[in-house]
Amino acid sequence: MTKIQGSGIGKVAVLLGGNSAEREVSLRSGNAVYEALVSQGINAIKVDTRDDLIKQLDEHNFDVAFIALHGVGGEDGTIQGLLEFYGLPYTGSGVKASAICMDKWRTKLIWQSLQLPTPQFVQAENAAALTTFASRVGFPLMIKPALEGSSIGITKVLEEEKLPAAFSYAEQTGSPVMAEQFISGKEFTVTILNGEPLPVIQLKPANDFYDYDAKYLQDDTEYLIPCGLSEAKEQELQALALQAFLALDCKGWGRVDFMQDENDNFWLIEANTVPGMTDHSLVPMAANAAGINFEQLVLKILTAPRPG
Ligand SMILES: Nc1ncnc2c1ncn2[C@@H]1O[C@H](COP(=O)(O)OP(=O)(O)O)[C@@H](O)[C@H]1O
Ligand SMILES: [Mg+2]
Repeated sequence: MTKIQGSGIGKVAVLLGGNSAEREVSLRSGNAVYEALVSQGINAIKVDTRDDLIKQLDEHNFDVAFIALHGVGGEDGTIQGLLEFYGLPYTGSGVKASAICMDKWRTKLIWQSLQLPTPQFVQAENAAALTTFASRVGFPLMIKPALEGSSIGITKVLEEEKLPAAFSYAEQTGSPVMAEQFISGKEFTVTILNGEPLPVIQLKPANDFYDYDAKYLQDDTEYLIPCGLSEAKEQELQALALQAFLALDCKGWGRVDFMQDENDNFWLIEANTVPGMTDHSLVPMAANAAGINFEQLVLKILTAPRPG
């Protein structure tokens, strides 16, 4: 199998779509990546993983895959495992890091064990377990599916009476349910690109938190870049993001999300191994602030040094 070398990129499979709840977002990311590759004269073909994936791979004899899949079945290590077995190099994190990052509860267990700051949390079998947790840490709480993305199934809960409904809402996604202490304050995200943190972005959703509507339907979230932190604080956050990324054995590119509390402490929320790549997404925004345009970004992700 040909490995990528400098400009000799060869034939690229842009893996997009799939079956997860984030299919629509993935189609948008994948199309943007595809356009960026084609505009640079690269031989790229879109491969919707919902259709017969192996057949499509066999048909084209690809040299490398750009994974633009979000959520379960694409971002979670399964496709990565298939590609390892198939012998096709791919972008981003490997099987292990992809699988761990898809599971917020296990991600947080690793961070916690390394004394990296992450809000108190619990995985809950039922609503009663949420009540027990609430009596220990208080309200507000975020109740979320451990395995989804795009803010699907998440509720901010202010009182005990609302816990059962929030539990059911999260459980409907088919994922285990977790609760996390709500951190009231500013939200930040840090992109990691080939071992370097990019400029930090502050997110200011008009809603109570960065929910699905704020992410994809409304147009009223403000993105601050420069992020409003002092230079020292921004560097502290970038260093923490890189540490958190490496702790999970993430590779290539990704995004680490944070909240900052009223005492200016940062708290790790989650790591995304295949963040959105539409031209309105956060990673392209951070890259742009570092002088890297969308086309260059796509190439940097594709040609990142990778083991093997
Ligand atoms: N512990 C928390 N405290 C405050 N806000 C949170 C917390 N967890 C999540 N949020 C808010 O909810 C949004 C979505 O949560 P997140 O865990 O990142 O799920 P997803 O994988 O769906 O993006 C975040 O971007 C943030 O605005
Ligand atoms: Mg998130």
